Amino acid sequence: MNDAAWLPPEAWRAIGGRRIRVTGRGLLVDTVVDELRRACARFGGEVVRGPGGKPCDLDLGLGGDDALGPEGYELTAADEHTVLRAAHPHGLLHGMFHLVRLGDASSTGTFRPAVPRRMLDHWDNVDVHPVMGQVERGYAGGSLFWHNGAPRRDLPRVTAYARLLTACGINAVTLNNVNVHATEARLLTDRLGEVAELAGVFRRYGIRTHLSVSFAAPVLHGLDTADPADERVRHWWESTTVDVYATIPDFGGYLVKADSEGQPGPFTYGRSHADGANLLADALAPHGGVVHWRAFVYNHRQDWRDRGVDRARAAFDHFTPHDGAFRENVVLQVKHGPMDFQAREPAAPLIAAMPATRVGVEFQVTQEYTGQQRHVCYLAPMWSELLRGVHGPALAGFAAEFVAVANTGDDPFWTGHPLAQANLYAYGRLGWNPALEPAAVLDEWVTLTFPGAPARLRDALHAIMDDSWRTYERYTAPLGVGFMVRPGHHYGPDVDGYEYTRWGTYHHADRDGVGVDRTVATGTGCAGLYPPPWARIYESPDECPDELALFFHHLPYQHVLTGGGTVIQHIYDAHFAGAREAAEMRERWAEVAGLVPPEKYERVRELLDEQVRSAEEWRDQINTYFFRKSGVPDAKGRRIH
Ligand code: GCU
Repeated sequence: MNDAAWLPPEAWRAIGGRRIRVTGRGLLVDTVVDELRRACARFGGEVVRGPGGKPCDLDLGLGGDDALGPEGYELTAADEHTVLRAAHPHGLLHGMFHLVRLGDASSTGTFRPAVPRRMLDHWDNVDVHPVMGQVERGYAGGSLFWHNGAPRRDLPRVTAYARLLTACGINAVTLNNVNVHATEARLLTDRLGEVAELAGVFRRYGIRTHLSVSFAAPVLHGLDTADPADERVRHWWESTTVDVYATIPDFGGYLVKADSEGQPGPFTYGRSHADGANLLADALAPHGGVVHWRAFVYNHRQDWRDRGVDRARAAFDHFTPHDGAFRENVVLQVKHGPMDFQAREPAAPLIAAMPATRVGVEFQVTQEYTGQQRHVCYLAPMWSELLRGVHGPALAGFAAEFVAVANTGDDPFWTGHPLAQANLYAYGRLGWNPALEPAAVLDEWVTLTFPGAPARLRDALHAIMDDSWRTYERYTAPLGVGFMVRPGHHYGPDVDGYEYTRWGTYHHADRDGVGVDRTVATGTGCAGLYPPPWARIYESPDECPDELALFFHHLPYQHVLTGGGTVIQHIYDAHFAGAREAAEMRERWAEVAGLVPPEKYERVRELLDEQVRSAEEWRDQINTYFFRKSGVPDAKGRRIH
């Protein structure tokens, strides 16, 4: 069985010893009762249902104000008597997990999620893909849902998973990869039963199930076209969708990656993305479903010689002309940055430029470009900066919902690296409340995951994790320039790996300088796509934050950054510092041997060895590369190979 993650039995101690009354009816109320009964069986409490009878010290029920919305709840506590009220059963479920997470004493008040949907997208394949494997960009083993082309049917495990997701605030999942291959396309039709079975598990935890579909599904199922203007295509989607809802009445909807990295889309038929999205939206609308339509559309056959094409502009250029043209049940799903989930990117300008469209902001919990769950890289500080507007428009202000790519799999720790569990937890918590402090969220996670953690362990985990994203940033690609990873699997350094490819991912290093000129004055104009004051800030090399200096500018190595050092010296300093910090993480972990269950301790220890090795490799390759290009020695005289 899998690791208990943030729901170990001890987490229920505070409420499992109480006399608890639950009123209300419905599937999710039954789930609440089941959970509480289990906790009480362990800790000596008791659950009573319905009103009346002896007084209880914890009282959960409906009857909360309608303003609480479908998932909100209100907690009051007086004289050892805690009352949880919700307007709907889903609110009771969230409220119960709130009590598990935080106890009741210090956290009374009214709680509502910032956005109505917080979704987790699984990039799971049904068949093992020859290059991408069972889970695309999966670093936690195989899929929880499929194995080698067949459903796993490990429903107890999926149940444990659904509990973890709902306990941190997630309320929607997509089960399969956005790259929909022929077998996966059948999930929508003759293999729908597999989806229904999983949806049945998620439903009990208030999580709605969505499916990635191929825009060419009608063709895969026998029509000669998928043209949105063709009546037969429209009819195909309508009738297919009717069948889906007959099987899964609360089905969430379709997720589509169209005209992107080889996936089919409306461009084939000379139609726009609004035409494409609306076709599916119309089929889903009578049933209350939504289309998540991805904005990750760019030319992946670019000529590296052509400096006029800028992938960072692509989504903006494709989609802003269609603002207002999408149906109400379309969510335009936009990656948080303009490129592709790099360790440092500004906010995607498209997100702030679609006032008449529902925009979902997409994060990547799976650590594709951030250490692949071999490196500790706590991502909440990055997400939090983006949400709060530290770099670019505050995404929290524009997001109608949040989406993230899952980092889970059939690994016994769920996430490969046991400490990567914190990223999933934090995604759920920030989706509910983007204003939460990342360190406070980590603290919550530590309290739950390491019950009774002594101060020494708690401090060590903070020391290792709080700043681990910045550490990772320091020893990898510098100053926001991105990529520099091994093409294909994307692990480890390869400075020029993507420099002469078709993917639009360049750094333009030469003997004089490095970085991409995205200014309006002399570059691709990407800086000018931002609203004020960001367009001005990013345009000017003197105002642009150092973290993004090479994202927006091609700078001489001797250019003095706002932080005071030169570009070249920053590269050297950051890489020496980052690799040293990785080694310090390993030392801190060694100090907590004996305070962590042995298997978990060992797994992290081994992975930290790899992180230190990899950080040194990054340091040496990046520093050597730039020393050779620039000929500028390290001002501090350290060894560069
Ligand atoms: C990245 C990733 C792909 C994925 C794509 C996407 O480019 O490397 O594996 O398919 O993002 O988000 O669709």
